[in-house]
Amino acid sequence: MTNDGCSNCDRQKELFAAFADGNDHECTCAKKDYGKEKCSLCRHLVETIFYTVKTCAKHELTLQPQTETTIFSIIRANILRKFGGMSQMLSQRVRNLEQSITLAITARAKEMKSSGEHVVIMASGEPDFDTPMHIKEAAVAAINAGFTKYTATSGIPELKELIAEKLRRENSYPCATSQVIVTTGGKQALFNVFQAILDPGDEVIVIAPYWVSYLEQIKLAGGEPVLLRTNAGLFTPNEFEELITPKTRAVIVNNPSNPSGAIIPEDLCRIIAELAVKHNFYIISDDVYEKFVYDGNKAVSFASFGEEISRQLIIVNAFSKTYSMTGWRIGYCAGPVEIIKAMGLIQDHQSSNVCSISQKAAVAALQGSQVCVEEMISEFDRRRVYMTERLSAIKGIVCPRPQGAFYVFPDVSYLYNEEISDSMTFAKKLLEEEKVAVIPGVGFGYDTHLRLTYSTGMEDIKEGLERFDNFVKRHFA
Ligand SMILES: Cc1ncc(COP(=O)(O)O)c(C=O)c1O
Repeated sequence: MTNDGCSNCDRQKELFAAFADGNDHECTCAKKDYGKEKCSLCRHLVETIFYTVKTCAKHELTLQPQTETTIFSIIRANILRKFGGMSQMLSQRVRNLEQSITLAITARAKEMKSSGEHVVIMASGEPDFDTPMHIKEAAVAAINAGFTKYTATSGIPELKELIAEKLRRENSYPCATSQVIVTTGGKQALFNVFQAILDPGDEVIVIAPYWVSYLEQIKLAGGEPVLLRTNAGLFTPNEFEELITPKTRAVIVNNPSNPSGAIIPEDLCRIIAELAVKHNFYIISDDVYEKFVYDGNKAVSFASFGEEISRQLIIVNAFSKTYSMTGWRIGYCAGPVEIIKAMGLIQDHQSSNVCSISQKAAVAALQGSQVCVEEMISEFDRRRVYMTERLSAIKGIVCPRPQGAFYVFPDVSYLYNEEISDSMTFAKKLLEEEKVAVIPGVGFGYDTHLRLTYSTGMEDIKEGLERFDNFVKRHFA
C-alpha cells in the first residue's frame, strides 16, 4: 500500500468509525508503538491499525503483505462482530446447524394463539391425550416418597430391567439390562448414538423423507448424512446398496416414518439387515412410533432376522408418543454393550440421569395396563381415515393413507404456481392467512409435500381442513 493507499485509508476510516464506540480502541499495551508491524498484533488494534495505515500513507511506506492481510482480517472480524451481532462469535459447528422447522412453526403458531387468534395447530408431533392417570400417580408417589435424588446415569435398575424385558418380548431382541441406557427422550438417545459411533467424515444412510433432527445430529457428530429417497417407504435394493461406501457406519431406519407414516416392508428391512452384516455397519432403529400402526400393519423388528444382525442393532425408543409423555423427557436406547457404555460416558459428562420422577413414571407405564395406548391409537385411526379422505377430496392434492405414526404427508406440488411454488411459502401463507399451522415438507427433504398431524382433536382437524380447502380454492383456482 503506497500513497494510493491514502484513499483506502479514508475508506477504512469510515469503517473504523463504524465500530469505534470508544470502548477498547485505545492502545495501552506495553508494545504500543504505532507504525510498526508488531503493533498490529497487539490486543487494542483498531486505533493501531488506523494509525499504521495512516502513517504508512503519509510517509509513502509500503505495508508488508503479511501485515496487510492481518489488518484486513481484523477489520473484517470487527465489522462482522459489529454488524453481524454475537452470532459471529459462535462456533462453526453451531453456525452450520439448521433450525428445526417443526419447532419454529409450532412456536409461531403458539405465539399467534396466545395473542388471541384462533389458530388450528396441525404441526406439532405430540399426542393431544393427557398422560394416563396411573403414570401420573406413580410420579406423585415418587415425589412423596422422596425419590428426588440423582440416580445412576444409565437409569434405575428396575426400569432398565423392564425395558430389556419389553425388548425381548415384543422385539425379539436378546437384551440384557447392561445393554440399556435411559435417556432424556428419544432425542438424546439418538444424539448420543451418533456421538458414540461417528468420527469426522463417517457416513450415515438416512432414509428420506426423514425426521428433521437426524441430519443435524449426524453433522454435530462430524458425520455426513447420505440420503436414500423413497416413495411410500419403497426403494430398490440396488438404490440402497449403491450408497454404501467404506465410510458407511450406520443406516437410520424410522419405521413407521415421521413424516410419511409409511412402513418399510419386511423384505426390504431384511435386505437392509443383510447388507449391514455384509458391509459391517450398524442399523439404528428409531422405534418411537412402533405402536402407532393401523389396518393390521406392523413394522418388523430387525432383531427378528437373527443373532448376527442383533449384534449390529441399536434400538431407540421413547415414552413420549406411546404414553403421551412428551414433556416428561424420557426415552431409551438398547444396543451392543460397548455402545451403551460409550453413551453412558458421554451422558455422565452431559446431563447425568434422566429425572428420577420420570423414571418412576416410566416404570408404571411399562408395568401398567396398555389399554390407554390402544384407546389412543384407535382414536388416531379414526382421525387418520377422516383426514386422508378429506384431503384427497381437494383437487390437486395427492394424499396416500399412512400405515403408521400420526401424520399425513400429502403431495401438494401439483398445485404449485408462480405465487406458491415451494412448501415453505405454502405453509407460511396458510398460517398467516388461514391460521392453520402445518410443517413444510422441505424440512423432511421433500419440498413437494406438507406434513399435517392428526394428533390434534377431531373438531380442530375438521376446522383446519375446511380452512385448508378455502386456501387452496383461493390460491389455485
Ligand atoms: C422420528 C422421531 N424420533 C425421535 C423423536 C424424539 O422423541 P422425544 O420427544 O422422545 O425426544 C421424535 C420426536 O418427534 C421423532 O419424531
